[in-house]
Amino acid sequence: MEPTEATATTEIPRPPTGVGDGSQLLDWLRTMRDRHPVWRDDMTGAAHVFRYDDLLKVLSSPDVFSSDFSAIMPPPDPDAPNFTEGVLTMTDPPRHGKLRRLVSQAFTPRMVAQLEPKVEVLTRELFDTVAGERDFDLVSAVAYPLPVIVIAEMLGIPPADRELFRGWGEALLSTNYELPVGAVPDGTMPEQIAAQLKEMHAYLLGHVQDRRTTPRDDLISRLVTAEVDGDALTDGETVSFLNFLLLAGHLTTSLLMGNTLLSFADEPAQLKAVREDRELVPAALEEVLRHRPPVVFQARVTRQETELGGVTLPANVPVMCWQMSGNRDERHFPDPDRFDISRTPNTHLTFGHGIHFCIGTPLARLESRIVLNELLDRYRQVDVGTPVYYERSPEIFGVKSLPITVETA
Ligand code: HEM
Repeated sequence: MEPTEATATTEIPRPPTGVGDGSQLLDWLRTMRDRHPVWRDDMTGAAHVFRYDDLLKVLSSPDVFSSDFSAIMPPPDPDAPNFTEGVLTMTDPPRHGKLRRLVSQAFTPRMVAQLEPKVEVLTRELFDTVAGERDFDLVSAVAYPLPVIVIAEMLGIPPADRELFRGWGEALLSTNYELPVGAVPDGTMPEQIAAQLKEMHAYLLGHVQDRRTTPRDDLISRLVTAEVDGDALTDGETVSFLNFLLLAGHLTTSLLMGNTLLSFADEPAQLKAVREDRELVPAALEEVLRHRPPVVFQARVTRQETELGGVTLPANVPVMCWQMSGNRDERHFPDPDRFDISRTPNTHLTFGHGIHFCIGTPLARLESRIVLNELLDRYRQVDVGTPVYYERSPEIFGVKSLPITVETA
């Protein structure tokens, strides 16, 4: 192995997450990949992993790198809403596989393909709300509402409540703004945020209880009637699951749509190529996913002492897996900073890897493909304006608002 400085050190600057357009973070990640590919952060005790091959090792070994943080988290506050029980991304085998089978039937490529006509109609309706306008915010007009309407309809909750979800989603994300990346939350949160989360919990619980008495043809009904290990999910587990699906199912995909326009804003020739040959749309979106991943990192915790990249990690250490860094690793991708829609193969880590690989991938790909095609059909010119506001939460990357100026085709 090539020599590195993979030791604990206090001189390394904090990760510049949630700052501007992400270029500082990308610079920091490049330095870390080169000089400290596995870094133990003295301040939080967490380990950070930056290189593609090391990320694959961590994400492929759930027996060593667990997704269940309960051993190092404070016990849940019985008075606070708990959104962690039964959440797939926080569960290890064998329970993980059983829980995953519950939801995966709803997200098979075949099931998702059946949604295509509906998503096309919804997309057109959303673009119609800004028909005739030269300047509008792509996020509030289309990128935010579309994924949330689709996931709400799949679950069986009123899409009209989407502004409620936006507030709750922001409350959930805002709990980690000030926390250093890798620090374990102490379980406390500001009263106002706790109040919003209680409201969300009660809202979702209402839907769960309603389906127990009156099942319908929706995902909530399937979840409340399904069994794992011979037991049905509890109300609490079902609520956490719904909360996770709502968040995972909408924010990430909204960010992907904004990131798509940002990527093409820098590459008009590549946009022209896609406009002229729509067969290029799927590959172009994969490159957006690699180059500007909506999810920046995912976390694991060591179950036992282990060695990674020449560094010994004790048991119970949080491990931050920077997929944004893996996606730019020059040891894996030639010329990784270049946005190149013809990149092949494009084995990015944006949807994760291994047993927790994103279930919603076919849905995210479908929605973003339909939106990009509709945008190109409607407008012969699309320019990104100012001001562009970026999300501040450390684990996500993308825009909160994206003003665009369009010329109708
Ligand atoms: C561009 C959009 C998306 C991105 C970048 C994304 C990213 C990810 C990543 C990185 C993971 C792995 C987490 C881990 O290993 O700890 C994951 C898991 C998951 N995602 Fe997505 N996701 C997206 C869209 C969606 C959508 C649309 C849905 C559902 C409607 C969804 C549902 C899930 C679920 C249920 C899991 C948990 C899988 C498991 O733990 O077995 N995601 N996603």
